[in-house]
Amino acid sequence: MAYIELKGLKKRFGDKEVIRGLDLEIEKGEFVSLLGPSGCGKTTILRMVAGFVDPTEGEITIEGRTVYSSDKNIYVKTGKRNLGMVFQSYAVWPHMNVFDNVAYPLKIQKLPKEERRRRTMDILKQVGLEDREKDFPWMLSGGQQQRVALARGLVMEPSVLLLDEPLSNLDVQLRQKMKEEIMDIQKRTGVTVLYVTHDQGEALQMSSRIVVLSEGNVEQIGTPGEIYHHPKTRFTADFVGKMNFLSGDGRTVGVRPEYISPGTEKTGAYGISGVLVRSLFEGSRNSYVFSTEAGEITAESPFALPLTIGEQSWLSWDRQVEF
Ligand SMILES: Nc1ncnc2c1ncn2[C@@H]1O[C@H](COP(=O)(O)OP(=O)(O)OP(=O)(O)O)[C@@H](O)[C@H]1O
Ligand SMILES: [Mg+2]
Repeated sequence: MAYIELKGLKKRFGDKEVIRGLDLEIEKGEFVSLLGPSGCGKTTILRMVAGFVDPTEGEITIEGRTVYSSDKNIYVKTGKRNLGMVFQSYAVWPHMNVFDNVAYPLKIQKLPKEERRRRTMDILKQVGLEDREKDFPWMLSGGQQQRVALARGLVMEPSVLLLDEPLSNLDVQLRQKMKEEIMDIQKRTGVTVLYVTHDQGEALQMSSRIVVLSEGNVEQIGTPGEIYHHPKTRFTADFVGKMNFLSGDGRTVGVRPEYISPGTEKTGAYGISGVLVRSLFEGSRNSYVFSTEAGEITAESPFALPLTIGEQSWLSWDRQVEF
């Protein structure tokens, strides 16, 4: 039996069905991301797992214990699900210092003072804030506050950690650093993570598996490599990474920009002729936009190519996805 099981999960708000039947099995120690655009139902799923929102239908099992079942009329309260949580806005309490913020869940559980101290200092060390225990949140940077929220989510040594866009308020550099920190903490503690994000890069980098969602439906579940290289639907192909769509003969094919090599002759299994209309320097790579009979096609290369605007090229590729 999987560590976490969601079976036939549905949620209606009024007459609007926002989750339309979700089946998902998560193994112990996995890092699973729920990925999709704003409003697709990611937070609603997390809140159902947490026990803040009751599903309209379905069953939720955590560590072999059913915590919610519409059929069997089972409902286990949030506090009894052994979960750690970090929510969309990283609410740390402004009137409490770092130590008290992090120790709060242990206090609620009425753990003895000595143990509270030991566990709180332990987790503060893990997130690199052991020397800031007496500071108040306003004395910390955004990233440090984020780490306080993370420490508070982990302090109960939960078997499952639910994270809802925990990096959304950070700048690019800090976000990358926090991504790596979250991954390190997860490896060290072995906690099973269910992670919500609308950022495909974040999902690709961090996850063992990704659940791609669109309007309450599962589009695809797979490893980052499967999702990126073998998207099953046009939605997934479009939402994750960049994709050129070419249609003809009543079907559509998708080609990733980095699969395409421009040159003077056709060198791959597939090809099309195009005229270069734009050349974009993007630091670690160069993008070339061609006008072709199938519309605009973008090719990407880690190197600068000897191409001139207005010049005709052959675009060749060996790999494509069909829809
Ligand atoms: N309590 C509620 N009552 C009515 N509708 C709700 C409620 N909570 C969420 N919804 C609706 O359910 C849908 C999914 O919302 P949800 O918050 O799960 O989206 P999300 O994927 O987390 O989006 P975002 O990326 O913007 O956070 C939205 O259309 C939202 O308006
Ligand atoms: Mg949300």
